[in-house]
Amino acid sequence: MMMDDNFFWFKRNGVRIPGVKGEHLFMHITDTHVSTWDEGSSPEERAETEKQETMWASFKEKFARGQLPFSVGNDEPYGDPQRISTVEAFEKQLALAEELKPEALLLSGDNLERMHEAGARYLKRKLAAYSGKFLCVPGNHEPKSMDGVYETGVRKLDFDGFRIVAVDDSRKTVSREDLDALKALCDEGTPMIVLCHIPVATANCKEELHRVMDYFYIDADAEDENAREFVALLEKNDAVRAVLCGHVHGYHATELVPGKPQIIGSQGMAGAVDLFTVS
Ligand SMILES: [Fe+2]
Repeated sequence: MMMDDNFFWFKRNGVRIPGVKGEHLFMHITDTHVSTWDEGSSPEERAETEKQETMWASFKEKFARGQLPFSVGNDEPYGDPQRISTVEAFEKQLALAEELKPEALLLSGDNLERMHEAGARYLKRKLAAYSGKFLCVPGNHEPKSMDGVYETGVRKLDFDGFRIVAVDDSRKTVSREDLDALKALCDEGTPMIVLCHIPVATANCKEELHRVMDYFYIDADAEDENAREFVALLEKNDAVRAVLCGHVHGYHATELVPGKPQIIGSQGMAGAVDLFTVS
């Protein structure tokens, strides 16, 4: 049973939406930071991959132990089971998803450590082989689209009585086009769970988010107009029922307003799994 593998540690959250029948399970992971090389890689690409793997081997542990000045307060599981490569970690996560069979696997960004062709080939191949549905957004380490993994623009998966909506906020803002598309979905009124990379800090959760550096969240007071509009939309629009994101490399369960969860998943490369139910 993958569930019993000591690599994983789980958080369970959920949201109740009136009218939704039964319980719908989603497996949300984030910040897997896959770094890899293959026979098509140049020697430089291979060297870069090895360098990044070495860097993350210590950095992910420091994040988990809260030993970085900008990740104060986290004390998350970390030991030998987490001391594996980013590729091994990603494969465990996929094997877990195959076992749990969530209604969709949700990947909230920094899927790759950095854009590299071997990494993009790897993700495309692995996700194509995955037997279930998946929805993926880019992180700040990644391009705006990746063939076979995610496209640009607002995308959605529809379920009975609700939808999961993918929004690219990886540059600490959202494009005008994407904001308009998100607003149009809000106007349709179908309850939605928004999947994005960077969390937003509303009045209700800024205290929690101010424990990390402002690099890690989009503030309601941002200079960027689209960023402010995005925060206000998530906070105030009634169609938005929950937000799933990452980026912080530490788990935080926040609420944008009371009753509207924003679950910030921790680093998937160190075994964090967020099981989210809609019922
Ligand atoms: Fe990350």
